[in-house]
Amino acid sequence: MLAGRRVVLGVTGGVAAYKAAYLARRLIERGAVVRPVMTESALEFLGAHTLAAITGNRPVTGMFNAADVSPHTTLARWADAVAIAPATAATLARLANGLSDDALVATVLATTAPVVIAPAMHTEMWQHPATISNIEQLTSFGYHIVEPASGALAGGDTGVGRLAEPERIADAVAAVLPGGPMTGVEVLVTAGGTREAIDSVRYLGNHSSGKMGNAIAIAAARRGAKVTLVTAGPTVDHPRVENVEVESAAEMADAAWNAAERADVAVMAAAVADFRPARPIEGKLRRQEGPPSVDLEPTPDVLGGIAAMEHRPFLVGFAAEVGSLDEAVAKARRKGVDLLVANDISSPGSGFGTDTNQVTLILPDGATEAWNLMPKADVAERLWDRISEMCKWEGTSP
Ligand SMILES: Cc1cc2nc3c(=O)[nH]c(=O)nc-3n(C[C@H](O)[C@H](O)[C@H](O)COP(=O)(O)O)c2cc1C
Repeated sequence: MLAGRRVVLGVTGGVAAYKAAYLARRLIERGAVVRPVMTESALEFLGAHTLAAITGNRPVTGMFNAADVSPHTTLARWADAVAIAPATAATLARLANGLSDDALVATVLATTAPVVIAPAMHTEMWQHPATISNIEQLTSFGYHIVEPASGALAGGDTGVGRLAEPERIADAVAAVLPGGPMTGVEVLVTAGGTREAIDSVRYLGNHSSGKMGNAIAIAAARRGAKVTLVTAGPTVDHPRVENVEVESAAEMADAAWNAAERADVAVMAAAVADFRPARPIEGKLRRQEGPPSVDLEPTPDVLGGIAAMEHRPFLVGFAAEVGSLDEAVAKARRKGVDLLVANDISSPGSGFGTDTNQVTLILPDGATEAWNLMPKADVAERLWDRISEMCKWEGTSP
């Protein structure tokens, strides 16, 4: 959440300059006010009018051509944060040496705001000793580097040097600007489907993709919370999310119970196996040995363990149901959660693997709230709005 935060967006002359337009949009969607500043080379790659139209502010493109007599100091004082994306090797070199001969580098030198730099260039340029040493220098200034990703580069090449995704850069900007509505709040989220070993190669699993839990973790981190994501699925790349990767229900229980000790809120979105093979086999079961029979035993109750803690966090459970939600209502009572989020995985567009979800909230008094089908990211945002209304957490700053 960047509501009302003022971000100077510096754009330099690389092929990825067009992605600065997407970044501007992402920042504005999160509530930021964006003022662009472009180098002369950047103008060869992206029209100033594009950024003007997206941000509502005409980019500063030089020291001496603006109406403002001192555009760099004006921008420097105005900024809550400066983000440079993409940052060329040339701009990195100028910044590392304080060579303030353009409006962007002069703004960075003149500001006391945090600076986020997202470099993009060919692999050889990124791995050149000059660039490596410039990055070290910029890190020593306290600037935050959003490392480039690997992938397709200009001219048909592939390798490291590709600009990080705009969403990731926006996350880095949000991370250097404290003061979101959940600053100081510790959150535990579980995600993904657990895997219970049958033998050394096979497991009992389920169809959970981890998308819902990950969306919840990201939404909390963007609001300023410190998040521990205990996941049996894909991890989340956000500066305020600590990923703890697990496989089985037992590992998830250990990690979740440990994190719950210090959490203000726990959202248990993982699909945890209720049963596991009682005696997993070392090595591989062979076809010639005939079909095995697998005895099952119960797994630890991850949610129940937290519900039973003496000082437990505000507890949100998830229930995947097929058809009627009657069982989910019963589960809410049985488990003693503060809020249960039920979804009917048999309804179209809802449940495992989809990018959308239709959920029904079940409140402690048995009342229900059915939400429309919407993207999982929106479910996550609305869920945090709802949790914020229901729960007063410790350590929150305004
Ligand atoms: C087609 C083309 C693509 C370029 N892409 C990059 C790039 O991705 N990264 C980079 O560091 N330089 C790139 N350059 C070189 C920069 O444009 C050049 O170093 C320029 O002086 C950078 O100026 P600036 O940092 O002031 O914007 C590219 C040049 C051309 C002609």
